[in-house]
Amino acid sequence: MDAIRVRGGTALQGRIPIAGAKNACLALMPATLLTDEPLTLTNAPRLSDIRTMGTLLGSLGCEVAALQEGRVVALSSHDLTSTRADYEIVRKMRASVLVLGPLLAREGHAEVSLPGGCAIGARPVDLHQMGMERLGAELELRDGYLHARAPRGLRGGVVDFPIVSVGATENTLMAATLARGTTVIRNAAREPEIVDLARCLRAMGARIDGEGTAEITVEGVDRLSGATHRVVADRIELGTYMLAPAVTGGTVECLGGSLDLIGAFAEKLHEAGIDIEQTPDGLRVSRNNGRVRGIHVVTAPFPGFPTDLQAQMMALLATAEGTSVLEERIFENRFMHAPELMRMGARIEVHGGTATVTGVERLKGAPVMATDLRASVSLILAALAAEGETVVSRVYHLDRGYERVEEKLRACGAEIERVAA
Ligand code: EPZ
Repeated sequence: MDAIRVRGGTALQGRIPIAGAKNACLALMPATLLTDEPLTLTNAPRLSDIRTMGTLLGSLGCEVAALQEGRVVALSSHDLTSTRADYEIVRKMRASVLVLGPLLAREGHAEVSLPGGCAIGARPVDLHQMGMERLGAELELRDGYLHARAPRGLRGGVVDFPIVSVGATENTLMAATLARGTTVIRNAAREPEIVDLARCLRAMGARIDGEGTAEITVEGVDRLSGATHRVVADRIELGTYMLAPAVTGGTVECLGGSLDLIGAFAEKLHEAGIDIEQTPDGLRVSRNNGRVRGIHVVTAPFPGFPTDLQAQMMALLATAEGTSVLEERIFENRFMHAPELMRMGARIEVHGGTATVTGVERLKGAPVMATDLRASVSLILAALAAEGETVVSRVYHLDRGYERVEEKLRACGAEIERVAA
């Protein structure tokens, strides 16, 4: 199993290209199920999660081809052979549940395994279920599988979500495109990945209004056609690499980044003392003057501070001057990186959903273990700033969401390499 070895202490200088968004691509790929014509996604990230979604779609009868070294994903669902998303795939990747809405809309039924537990929280799928039920589907849980049926086809309805859910909004949006009549999704997620999905569906012929706001309206159409769509930039990869010069000092330009993807995060980074500048090619981030300042961060749905950047922000705040408070409001167990950071000398106290971080002058290298995707990259960020050597093990988590992380950081002067552990 691979590990990442880092020798910390080098200020970073350089440019890092930001890939297409994993979480946008994972929602866009199942949209192929809505049409018998080809769907082509460009600017796709080369990640194991994307390959897993390809395997799932392949098991349903889709043709899936990775072109241009995986930068382009060509999908065709001309002949579907199955409507069953198997436990063996779903348990590896929860985003698998995003085939539910499209399968139901196209085939009138679907059998999707419940994903089971997750390292960062319980993550139920009741809101996905609610969305389908409001569109006229009947759902039943049997043998660990959700059996969904819409014998007379889906019909438009009002879906008023009690809390904001990215995945449930995506599933409902996709299903509604082929439902009879009008669907209104209230308290919809507003993430850039939702906007990207709506744009792609519209290019396929869907009639959608209001994406990016809390109320999305969909007029169902009889059929969708093929399209070619460019995946939006990955705002979480962007935020992660914006933190790299923030932890080490130096200047990095994140190519393809823009402030509209990452406003709340950029504001917090600025408040901590980091300079951010929009350039024609992306965002230039520098830390020039001493330690950063402690800040208060509260995670929230977009446009708030993303939960997917909380762990990485904690790595920065571990060496801030003064005390910082991080409140995690999206997932109930998303501080697994804290004990690992503490092995590197960070001073962190966790009480429920709140972590208090008392900044120390310097972290020290140590062997640490990744527990999930964002936790693993937070350990790499901490290692870049730490004195001495850090080995981060279990990096398969990292490969789910960051392509060529060691190459991108090495190009900016970091001493980082992948080793067989
Ligand atoms: C998406 O997960 C992302 N994944 C996550 O990224 C991200 O952390 C999350 O949104 C929040 O931004 C993908 O897009 C593939 P939610 P999702 O439904 O859609 C509760 C990463 O690191 N909830 O918005 O699963 C849920 O438990 C990952 O890239 C229900 O109660 O998240 C959570 O507390 C991790 N019932 C809250 O809603 C439901 O049916 C928000 O979750 C669904 C969700």
